[in-house]
Order: sequence, then structure tokens, then C-alpha cells
Amino acid sequence: MTAAVHCFAADHLAAQGLASALGVPCHLVEIHEFPDGETLPNVVACSGVVIAYCPLNRPNAKLVNLLLACDAWRRAGAARLVLVAPYMSHLRQDAVFLPGQALSRDVVGRLLGERFDHVVTVEPHLHRTADLAAVFAPATLEVLSAGQALAQAIGPQGAPLVVGPDVESEPWARGVAERLGASHVTLRKERRGDLRVDLVAPDDLDVRGRRVVLVDDICSSGGTLEAATILLSALGAACVEVAVVHALFDAEAAERLAQAGVIRVVSTNSCPHPTNAADLAPQLAAALTEEIHR
Ligand code: R5P
Repeated sequence: MTAAVHCFAADHLAAQGLASALGVPCHLVEIHEFPDGETLPNVVACSGVVIAYCPLNRPNAKLVNLLLACDAWRRAGAARLVLVAPYMSHLRQDAVFLPGQALSRDVVGRLLGERFDHVVTVEPHLHRTADLAAVFAPATLEVLSAGQALAQAIGPQGAPLVVGPDVESEPWARGVAERLGASHVTLRKERRGDLRVDLVAPDDLDVRGRRVVLVDDICSSGGTLEAATILLSALGAACVEVAVVHALFDAEAAERLAQAGVIRVVSTNSCPHPTNAADLAPQLAAALTEEIHR
């Protein structure tokens, strides 16, 4: 079957990288915006497999265009639709935490799962989700790890202490620490609001004079990593660096992290961001090889 990568303008760079790794063309989806703000995606004529590269950062605008594009791709001749969303949105709302809220994970999972045949994502947020495949059914799902990519971005120099800011970050902290030949530990977190979190270190944690690398899946407001940096610096860490899979934070949050004492931030290019230092294209391409040889 023929195959091509398709993307929106904001993701063109990473989509082009994936297309080159796969040896297939990359097509831009043009978006027409009507005077009242309604949008209309325009896709090129296609056949075979459409690989839609669409990290779902800033998801409110992207999701509508993606759903409309799915219809357009089918009408334009696609036989199979594959969504590559290295960052998958709405998975943190994996429970109804307060009366009146939606279970966003399931709403968005169903919307995508009913339109795509296959979904590929990287390090999805799985805190209370035991079976992510069920969330995206009937589409099939492939989940990739970013441990190797993050470890490479951190670099081999010195063996840092890897710290996860909360117990849920343990798998990422462990994955990175193992690859660096370093040890790891997690803090305990209680969230007090969108921007405020309280963190507690284990009683026996000794970071005095050590290089610490904080590892988390997502940096959004930056509140978690800012609080962790302040705590670790107060406990005597020599320096604090940050490695995140999905960099969703803005310039203001970056400034707060720097003010807190973070000396370096690296991220994967699961979403476009100035801190991108780890390219996921080779891994994504390997996961898509079967798709393009169908
Ligand atoms: C939460 O459970 C996640 O693993 C991240 O720690 C969280 O999403 C970070 O968010 P923020 O940067 O807003 O503190």
C-alpha cells in the first residue's frame, strides 16, 4: 500500500522528520478559516495509508481540525488512517475528580478511536488507566517509551541522581536512571490547585552536593518541577536539571523554573518546544514500518 505522512503547519518540522525516516512524502493539511473562526481543513488526494502526525498539545483547536480531516482523508481515498500523536491530550482527566466534571479521557479516546484504524503514542499519562487500549477501541493502539531518547538527551557525563517529583513518575525516573547507570528516587506530591503543589522528600534522601536530574512525563504549568527544584535545592543539591517527555509549558513557566534554580531543561520533540533535544522520529518510524509495508 502507498503511504504518506500528513500534518498541520504547526507540526511540519517533526512530521517531515518522520516522513524522511520512513522514506515517504509529507503533505501539509491547509486550514481555511472563515470570518467567524470556523475552520475547514483541505487535504490532498490520497490513497493507501494516511499517517496523520498530530501531537495533541493545544488540543482544543487541533482536535476539531483533526476530526474534520479524518472525514476529508477518507473521502479523498485513504484506505487506512493511522494517528501518530506523540503527545496524547486529555489523559490526565482519567477520573471524575469533582462533581460536575467530564471524564475527558474517554470522550476524546472514543472520538479518535472511532475514526482512526490505529493510534501510536509516546509515554501516555496512565495514572488511573489500567487498559488504555480499551479507551481507543475499536482502533488498535501502540505505546512507545521515551526512556532511551530522554537518557540520550541528558547525556552520559557524570552519574546524576534521578528524581521523580511524585510516585507516579517512578517508571520514567527508573527507565532513565537505568539507562544512565544512575540511581533514582521519587518525591511525594499533593496538588493544591493548577499551579500549586506540595512536595515531600523521603526522610533518608541525601542530595547534598549532588547533580540532580528531575524526570517527569509532562511539564505544563511547571508548578510540579518548580516546587521539586526549590525543595531539592533547599536540601543541598549542587544543581538541578530537568528532563521531560512532553514539554507543554510556556515562556513564563520556563522563567519560573529558571528562577527556582533549574540550570537546563531537555525534552523530546513529542510537542514542538524550544527545549526539544531528543528526536522521536527513529522510534516512531520503526513502529510504523509494518504500516507502510502492508
Ligand atoms: C501529573 O501527574 C504529571 O505526571 C505531571 O507531574 C503534571 O502534569 C505536571 O503538571 P504541572 O507542570 O502543571 O505541575
